[in-house]
Amino acid sequence: MSVSGVPSLRLGVNIDHVATVRQARGTVYPDPVEAGLMAASGGAHSLTIHLREDRRHIQDDDVFRLVARSPVPVNLEIAVTDEMIALACQARPAFACLVPEKRQEITTEGGLDVAGHAAAVTQACTRLRQAGVVPALFIDADPAQLAASLATGAPHIEIHTGRYADAEGDVQHHELQRIRDFARVAADAGLEVHAGHGLHLQNVGAIARIPEIVELNIGHSLIARALFVGLPAAIAEMRRVMTDARADLRPRAA
Ligand code: PXP
Repeated sequence: MSVSGVPSLRLGVNIDHVATVRQARGTVYPDPVEAGLMAASGGAHSLTIHLREDRRHIQDDDVFRLVARSPVPVNLEIAVTDEMIALACQARPAFACLVPEKRQEITTEGGLDVAGHAAAVTQACTRLRQAGVVPALFIDADPAQLAASLATGAPHIEIHTGRYADAEGDVQHHELQRIRDFARVAADAGLEVHAGHGLHLQNVGAIARIPEIVELNIGHSLIARALFVGLPAAIAEMRRVMTDARADLRPRAA
């Protein structure tokens, strides 16, 4: 919590696409774990990796190596499958965020349908908690998903911002309003609220200005920017934009 009463906003850096470059050639470089260590020393508050069922970028060994070496909390994104929950329980990252997964998608296309798979999600959360891993749920800003998420006992949610990020004009404004309202209700219900997907330097400000959101998870745009300015500079730049947006919420001195 900051002195002004507005919670400070953390940046979780998703390093999947460092592994995408490695996998494109089947080399051992660039190493996403080295990138994670550089991101942490460059100001990332946490590191996120998504172990996809097709292993298109992050590999099992990356998960274990990152958990062993990261100085900041590791957030592992996984589908709700026996294989993935078992792996998370073995690797024991600080957090495991449950996400939907379709083999053919380019990236995660929407939030997890917690309401439609309540028993499986609740069981996954219980297994994770028993292993000492804090479960989180990646969901759309939909009241039905909030009610179902609360029933699982997961203490965190991550709001899917992909639709906001892809939209323009009035549609984007409408999506933003939906996320704002949803974040308030979720925080009032006692959940820790994170957000992410599709965020970049130009669209992150409006999301950063939502006071109930305490962490943003950003990957693709940061890694893309890092190609030109380096990872520490890309992280510093993103944090500056987030902090400036958050500062707009603070009461000004008379
Ligand atoms: N949050 C979740 C749950 C995701 O699946 C992803 C993409 O892996 C992100 C955040 C980061 O999205 P982006 O790479 O578009 O910043």
